[in-house]
Amino acid sequence: MNHETDQALTEKVLKAYDHIDDPRLKSIVSLLIKHLHTCIKEMKVTDQEWEFAWDFMRRMAEKTSPERNEFLLLADVIGVSQLIESHNHETPGQPVGYALVGPFFRANAPFRERGSSIASEETPGERVHISGRVYDFENNKPVEGAVLDTWQAATNGLYENQDEHQPDYNLRGRFKTDENGTFELIALMPTAYPVPTDGPVGELLRVAKRPPDRPAHIHFIVLAPCYETLVTQIFVKGDPIIEDDAVFTASQNMVGDFRQEGDHMLLKYGFPLKRGVSKMPKAPIPS
Ligand code: BEZ
Ligand code: FE
Repeated sequence: MNHETDQALTEKVLKAYDHIDDPRLKSIVSLLIKHLHTCIKEMKVTDQEWEFAWDFMRRMAEKTSPERNEFLLLADVIGVSQLIESHNHETPGQPVGYALVGPFFRANAPFRERGSSIASEETPGERVHISGRVYDFENNKPVEGAVLDTWQAATNGLYENQDEHQPDYNLRGRFKTDENGTFELIALMPTAYPVPTDGPVGELLRVAKRPPDRPAHIHFIVLAPCYETLVTQIFVKGDPIIEDDAVFTASQNMVGDFRQEGDHMLLKYGFPLKRGVSKMPKAPIPS
């Protein structure tokens, strides 16, 4: 057939994918085709640009391994990952924001005793005592037996899976709340670090003149039966780069008031949970 009009081609393609049984998948494939075709027409993509695009994807695949997912990183730096989190979970007035999981979450971190440290003794860096409460967002009642899964980068900006000098599962750990919904743990004062820039995503950040840095933060997933899982991060109040997070996550409903208390830093923080379905996010790196 002659593709007499672009529109005729788009319609033919849409029809060719009209027999997918799963209605959700069918709707996703059809919307993708429709919007991609519109996008290509609007951009007037040249042959050379298309060659660059598919080679860019090949190079992303080349950088991708079980430890590193360049596609997820791309979604992070163009705001797609954070948009999905915000769109699916945020409700107005919510005291604590939902964050993207990020590429460095590793499942099955060790359960640690209340009040213990996620940092091995040899890990350099200032310690912070973090304590607080997990509670029901509707009625403020404590959530007993909630699991807090936490992870953070070392002061060199590397997660333990990126750094052969750190012990396995360093700066990662799981803690349980008591009957009052409270928890206590020791972590490092969070450090700012750049997202990986040695692949095609780094090229994109450079052409866009975007700094690759993430403001200092510590990650938390808070999980309890019959509650929506809270995936969040805590940033440091007053950090000047909060507005410039490379992955568009940091926001004012994710800041913690870290304070000096005697010889150490202290943070008190509350995690509100909304009633819903408890689901563990998929870990991007193997356990
Ligand atoms: C992180 O916070 O671990 C992270 C999130 C997105 C991209 C890179 C790192
Ligand atoms: Fe991080």
